[in-house]
Amino acid sequence: MYNFDVNNIRRDFPILNQKINDQPLIYLDSGATAHKPNIVLEEIKKYYEIKNANPHRGAYQLSVLSTEVYENTRELVRGFINAKSTKEIIFTKNTTESLNLIAFSYGMNFIKEGDEIVLLIANHHSNIVPWQQVAKTKRAHLKYMYLDDEGRLTEDEMKEKISPKTKLVSLCDVSNVLGTVYPVKSVIDYAHKMGAIVVVDGAQGLPHRKVDVTELDADFYAFSAHKMLGPMGFGVLYGKEELLNEMPPFLTGGNMIEYVSEEETTFAELPYKFEAGTQNVSGAAGLAAAINYLNEIGMDNITAYEKDLTAYALNKLLEIDYLKIYGPKTMKDRGGVISFTVEGAHPHDVASILDAYGVAIRSGHHCARPLMNFLGVAATSRASFYFYNTFEEIDVFVDSIKKVRKWLGSGS
Ligand SMILES: Cc1ncc(COP(=O)(O)O)c(C=O)c1O
Repeated sequence: MYNFDVNNIRRDFPILNQKINDQPLIYLDSGATAHKPNIVLEEIKKYYEIKNANPHRGAYQLSVLSTEVYENTRELVRGFINAKSTKEIIFTKNTTESLNLIAFSYGMNFIKEGDEIVLLIANHHSNIVPWQQVAKTKRAHLKYMYLDDEGRLTEDEMKEKISPKTKLVSLCDVSNVLGTVYPVKSVIDYAHKMGAIVVVDGAQGLPHRKVDVTELDADFYAFSAHKMLGPMGFGVLYGKEELLNEMPPFLTGGNMIEYVSEEETTFAELPYKFEAGTQNVSGAAGLAAAINYLNEIGMDNITAYEKDLTAYALNKLLEIDYLKIYGPKTMKDRGGVISFTVEGAHPHDVASILDAYGVAIRSGHHCARPLMNFLGVAATSRASFYFYNTFEEIDVFVDSIKKVRKWLGSGS
């Protein structure tokens, strides 16, 4: 059960009060990016109004304030995901950069010829392409874990693909296409037994459910602020301290050094070794406000509400016989993302027609081409929910879908 009033919550999100095509906006694309509550917008503005300075470098008061904003956010993030130390929290610009950091720093240095890298076929391109680069350069082999008919990963498939040859496994905790919640804890435990390390792409997981990286025993966990009410251009990489310590810097330059001579450089300690150049402090201010907001509502509350909302949507969509739904058909192992195709209608047409009713959904390959090939479709339409969506919005969404085929002059 959940305990909050969605109408009160919606008052915190100014963008949700807009009209699109003369209809109230129904935003069902939070999987792409989430909207921002007033408190996040205010904290970003306040940062520039009264705290803006380059952090870490100045002895003067403003620089100290800016450093405080940045480092307080690091501590807040540490607590939010239950990491052991702030040394394990690296700030990046998004999930993509976090994953590239691991691939280029860990992958290019610790993966050797003949090693196997195991990926989930449901991974987003940002969790495939960097590994392809590593595999090509290091002459390592890429292997994929495939899915069952409802988009789940079976234990048999995991055990078939992860072996003592596996050096690294990288998977998402929730699919941005299918909404499937993957058994990352089981994968981590099994991969560790086989001697591999595990990278978790938490872009779609962390905004919606409580994540405890210590309990998971994840080696790396990556996520983006903009999908969890924070600003764009700010991301996080959690990594175990012992691994990060062994890894060389990803980007080099100012801020990440200890000492520089004409020929040589010694690097700063963690986490600064991985944070080259002037950092996005206003982004940190925004993420801190977002985390405080999420904490106040409660992650378990958010998960419970989204579960009811998604079940409501899923059941209504399953009643439409000319709709094909991809991913789990029940709420078992399922989060708030629903991909579907409407028989006789191109997904782009579906999205455009829904836009006329003020309903914002996404269509396309969702940056997951290998998954689309596996599913045998070029594109799907995708609705993705957050805790500011309402049951009434789902009704309008489903009614709009029922009008698609009439718009296109076919079907009823
Ligand atoms: C599962 C998953 N991983 C990674 C990303 C990339 O996130 P970003 O564009 O913020 O780097 C996304 C974005 O949609 C995603 O859904």
